[in-house]
Amino acid sequence: MCGIVGFTGSQEAAPILLDGLKKLEYRGYDSAGIAVVDGAQINLSKVTGRIAGLCEKTQDGRAVPGVTGIGHTRWATHGAPSDTNAHPHLSNDGRFAVVHNGIIENYMSLREELTARGYRFESQTDTEVIVHLLEMYYAGDVRKAVIRTSARLRGSYALGVVCADAPDRLYVAREASPLIVGVGVGENFFASDVTALVAHTRSAIYLDDGEFAEISPEEICVFDVAGRPVQKKISRITWDIQAAEKSGYEHFMLKEIMEQPRAVKATIEPRIHGREIRLDDADWTAEDLKKIRSVVITACGSAYYAGCAGRYAIEQLLRIPVHVELASELRYADPIIDDATLVIVLSQSGETADTIAALRECQRRGAKALAIVNVVGSTIAKIADWVLYTWAGPEIAVATTKGYTTQVCLLYLFALYAAKRLGRIDDKQYNSLLDTVLSLPKLIQKTLDMNPGIPKLAAQYHSHEAVFFIGRNTDCAVCLEGALKLKEISYLHAEAYAAGELKHGTIALIDEHRLVVALCCNEKLMEKTMSNILEVKARGAEVLAVTFRENSKIVSLADEMVYVPKVPAILSAAVEIIPLQLFAYYVAKENGCDIDKPKNLAKSVTVE
Ligand code: F6R
Repeated sequence: MCGIVGFTGSQEAAPILLDGLKKLEYRGYDSAGIAVVDGAQINLSKVTGRIAGLCEKTQDGRAVPGVTGIGHTRWATHGAPSDTNAHPHLSNDGRFAVVHNGIIENYMSLREELTARGYRFESQTDTEVIVHLLEMYYAGDVRKAVIRTSARLRGSYALGVVCADAPDRLYVAREASPLIVGVGVGENFFASDVTALVAHTRSAIYLDDGEFAEISPEEICVFDVAGRPVQKKISRITWDIQAAEKSGYEHFMLKEIMEQPRAVKATIEPRIHGREIRLDDADWTAEDLKKIRSVVITACGSAYYAGCAGRYAIEQLLRIPVHVELASELRYADPIIDDATLVIVLSQSGETADTIAALRECQRRGAKALAIVNVVGSTIAKIADWVLYTWAGPEIAVATTKGYTTQVCLLYLFALYAAKRLGRIDDKQYNSLLDTVLSLPKLIQKTLDMNPGIPKLAAQYHSHEAVFFIGRNTDCAVCLEGALKLKEISYLHAEAYAAGELKHGTIALIDEHRLVVALCCNEKLMEKTMSNILEVKARGAEVLAVTFRENSKIVSLADEMVYVPKVPAILSAAVEIIPLQLFAYYVAKENGCDIDKPKNLAKSVTVE
């Protein structure tokens, strides 16, 4: 989704802004722009399309001189992608320029009011009201104008403002949208995401909702809505710069698939001490756990599918009902949730609008919420009652991989931890499952190593008209994520089905133009899924089976095989998904797709 950056110092601002915007490209965008203060005027450059176009238009920034400026990547919400709708937006008198992430919910009424007062609108965006409000409220003090403007806005925003009357200053404001100030030496920055900062500084101030800052090259003053100074801690950004780049892989997605053993290790190992799981960062009391009568897991997209996969471990080990709900549905569902419900919210970014809304709705009904989040300090992490970070490092590819596996692994850890603390698991089973959890990084690595043939399978199947993923129980949950991965990056039609459900309708679509990927890793139900393989084979489909080597019976049924190590079913999703991620990746590559930035998708969906 949108990204914002800002710089003030003694170097030329435009090249730094363009570089920062490139680091934010992974978030998904359709247009971009920069505004740089040059003496008493603000110069603007905007393009529809890629940052490369903006670099070309500005001669890599040389055509936009000045040492203080702001930049933006836009993902259209109000008004189509266009140069006019791209940010920054300029006030009618040319004195202010603004970049904005988020949505101004009351922009219609503000637009009417400002139009009636004679302000001229150039764009269809909600953002433009902000810059005209600034002009309206400005009486020589930019801080005051920013505060008064913010007071008129309803919705979410991270704002970056420059003013021609204060040529070495940036002004920022935050409400429900991430905003980080980068602290340099003789120069300072802001951005919506640390990836745009790490090339310049590792010192950061994380603004909270309702906070503002005035940033000059020498000083950062954070203040509240009354203009009172706020003391902020300077935090260290620990993500290394390498982690935010491709490390020699052709795509971020492949890099992130390959990183999964390390990411899962980072999620699991620090939380296991001897034979004990400690989730200290979540700060639970035994009472909190005893109170839980049911669990509701809520999230969107792959995070929702991670919930579908993790559900089995919680349900089977704790023997309490677990409901997995789409956040976009739950928020309006009048859910039956109370203080005996534990809500688990999954989100890689921690900024997904529907997930935030569902979380708030559950809390309003008295439930306490545990957030499983990757991005430290994100909105969901702040709102939830407890947070467990996945510690997967930055995920740049739009399609999640390590975000998903680390979420699944944290759900496994939670299930084992809670079962042990509540005395619902005997030592033998606990120790055996704990050993499996501890060996997941190695098992994932083994899965990556034992599948060098996947690019060949992708070449064989990339032009099939549709792909159906079938499996039962835990396998079925993995099918959901496997199908999403394939469709979102390769644009092939892919669907996941509970294998037993095919006969109730969908089998009508099965013929020789369809590929069926059959997951047979749940030992108890394997024979059943194998019967379903026979059914689709009888209708001409090609079958690619995913199973473990010990399952020799399947070899004569399927056309092609992919192997994974044998893992107890309730913990198998983190391993089983690996070949499906690789398959999706290589099919997309065969089809020449823009793998890291699939069309129409954004990394972080911060609007409803
Ligand atoms: C798919 C994908 C999305 C996200 C979803 C939720 O590959 O990445 O489906 O899983 O948008 O995002 P987060 O986890 O950031 O809340």
